Amino acid sequence: MLIYNNENFIINNEFAKNVEKGLADKPKHISPKFFYDKIGSKLFEGICDQPEYYLNRIEAQILNKSASQIINILEEKAISVIELGNGNSQKTRILLRPFLANWKNVSYFPIDVSLKMLKNSIRDLSREYPNLRIFGVCSDYIKGLIKINEFMKFKRNIPNKRLIIFLGSSIGNFDPKEANAFLHSLSKYIRNDDALLIGFDLEKDKSILEKAYNDKKGITSQFNLNVLSRINKELDGGFELSSFEHKSFYNLREHRIEMHLESKLDQKVRIGAIGKEFHFKEGETIHTENSYKYSKNRLYGLVKNAGLQVMANFTDPKNQYSLILLKKIPYASKS
Ligand code: TRP
Repeated sequence: MLIYNNENFIINNEFAKNVEKGLADKPKHISPKFFYDKIGSKLFEGICDQPEYYLNRIEAQILNKSASQIINILEEKAISVIELGNGNSQKTRILLRPFLANWKNVSYFPIDVSLKMLKNSIRDLSREYPNLRIFGVCSDYIKGLIKINEFMKFKRNIPNKRLIIFLGSSIGNFDPKEANAFLHSLSKYIRNDDALLIGFDLEKDKSILEKAYNDKKGITSQFNLNVLSRINKELDGGFELSSFEHKSFYNLREHRIEMHLESKLDQKVRIGAIGKEFHFKEGETIHTENSYKYSKNRLYGLVKNAGLQVMANFTDPKNQYSLILLKKIPYASKS
């Protein structure tokens, strides 16, 4: 069973609008959500395999170690796992396996904007885990969660205890205001007995951070530049990819890795679908992504502010990454 909406059909129009506005702004920017077409998603999987990209590896280690503790804390016999942005569900398997071994009834609700990714992961997971019930939701996160809330009201035999997971330090791609707003809406739409599991990348040595986003093989660079080739393909753009360069660095004051595409020369680029030409000075950049890194204090402040409380904080021995298990502070839910 699949619940989906038609949001994929308007994406190109949205893409054109975002690019038009972003390239007219100063400094220039393009939303990171346009990274993820088929090629972009493949490149992103490639990034996760790079030795410098510690995030993925460490999160997987923490998940491995904490799965049994999560099972103990949740104290249930059946569970519904809701995943915000599942990608290929690779890391989700680390949780699903022990859950299925411990609990008879496990349902899994991946929410993802990419229908294709969703279909593929549903197909693969149902082959691997015949006992797992999967309900894919093609939507953005909050809307998807609202749909699942509705769906669970009339569908019987779906475990009421829910674990909502948001992995990969994706929350770090929101700026602090957006992260705050996002956690507020999450805490509005979850129930008092739901648990949330969120992955946060922690602040650490600048050189480790910068290596992670400048891998030797240049996959992150290809990933970043892919947004320009998407503009070329989908919006009839005239970007010369070789005249732009991937730049990423840690901005200490803002606590974030910034990704940019820097113009190597003074140039004009026409984008057919927008009907405009855009000027780039030598050294001028298009800001394409941020990845915020948290200290434990800022992390706890953020969740508390959203009416959430920490049930457990799982980290690696070097405190590089944090997986926190949260629930709603009951009194905060009434408003
Ligand atoms: N959220 C992850 C991170 O910030 C994944 C990610 C998003 C990413 N955009 C990226 C990784 C760009 C590398 C490059 O690290």
